[in-house]
Amino acid sequence: MWESVLVLQVPSPSVKFKFQIPKPRNWSWMNKYSSIRCAGKVNRWSLDGMNALVTGGTRGIGHAIVEELCGLGATVHTCARNEDELEICLRSWKDEGFTVSGSLCDVSSQVDRQKLMEVVSSTFNGKLDILINNVGTNIRKAMVDFTAEEFSSVMATNFESVFHLCQLAYPLLKASGAGSVVFTSSVSGFVSLKSMSLQGATKGAINQLTKYLACEWAKDNIRSNAVAPWYIKTSMVEQVLSNKEYLQEVYDRTPLGRLGEPSEVSSLVGFLCLPASSYITGQIICVDGGMSVNGFYPHHD
Ligand SMILES: NC(=O)c1ccc[n+]([C@@H]2O[C@H](COP(=O)([O-])OP(=O)(O)OC[C@H]3O[C@@H](n4cnc5c(N)ncnc54)[C@H](OP(=O)(O)O)[C@@H]3O)[C@@H](O)[C@H]2O)c1
Repeated sequence: MWESVLVLQVPSPSVKFKFQIPKPRNWSWMNKYSSIRCAGKVNRWSLDGMNALVTGGTRGIGHAIVEELCGLGATVHTCARNEDELEICLRSWKDEGFTVSGSLCDVSSQVDRQKLMEVVSSTFNGKLDILINNVGTNIRKAMVDFTAEEFSSVMATNFESVFHLCQLAYPLLKASGAGSVVFTSSVSGFVSLKSMSLQGATKGAINQLTKYLACEWAKDNIRSNAVAPWYIKTSMVEQVLSNKEYLQEVYDRTPLGRLGEPSEVSSLVGFLCLPASSYITGQIICVDGGMSVNGFYPHHD
């Protein structure tokens, strides 16, 4: 049982304490990312040698995530539905020196999800270090007005897709020895937002799945976390924010008084994938300029 010896040097260079620690459940992972290795060969702030699947990488937050992970050294596979946009992105990433491949895939389709994961498996030789479940959609309307088709479509795109992709990715993440799953949730999963009941319910489900996977997959050293943005400047929210009065209300509700940038979400996602965050799992972290903690701060005293 007492197989490994950790040498700790404190506080004077001449004093050395030796003590023994029990062998962890999965030593190979520990060996890969422990502070023992970090002090030496492994760079905790790099994704060098790792691979990632990022869904919805051609625009907005997903696009920023692809670039963030590549910038940290990862090789990335992404997917989207629009072929032209995908081709343009892949060419531009190649020009920038990033290693990114891509698939046409509608994540709301079971068949597409299966094909996507087959491509990912063969591209990355049966091993996946990082899964970013980023795609999401929204239909804004009162809860009572949703049709059955709209309900199915939002559920399939936002929740069924991530549930199934996680199932399909599991053996590959397990093979990594140190897998990381990050979901793009939303503040709508915590608080109620006008006309967002269905989208908010899917994000609430994602938040709960984040916690379940953190516990269920901990034995395989797969971490699971989520990021929960408030308004970020992307094509998804362009139309609603083109209404000046609405935009002003968003500013008023947001302590930092502005919208977020996709790169302000991708930086957190990057951190959650790094060995530097190896003890963080089951967390849903808001990227919201303080919106979700805002109580009552009137403009006039
Ligand atoms: N922007 C915000 O203010 C905000 C706030 C909170 C949470 N979020 C969440 O952040 C995530 C990304 O949103 P975003 O604002 O970056 O969206 P976006 O600008 O609309 O980009 C969405 C990306 O996903 C792809 N995509 C959409 N539906 C897809 C599908 N069914 N299958 C495959 N790919 C699909 C799009 O490409 P194609 O259209 O070519 O498929 C595009 O690359 C979503 O989960 C959203 O709920 C966003």
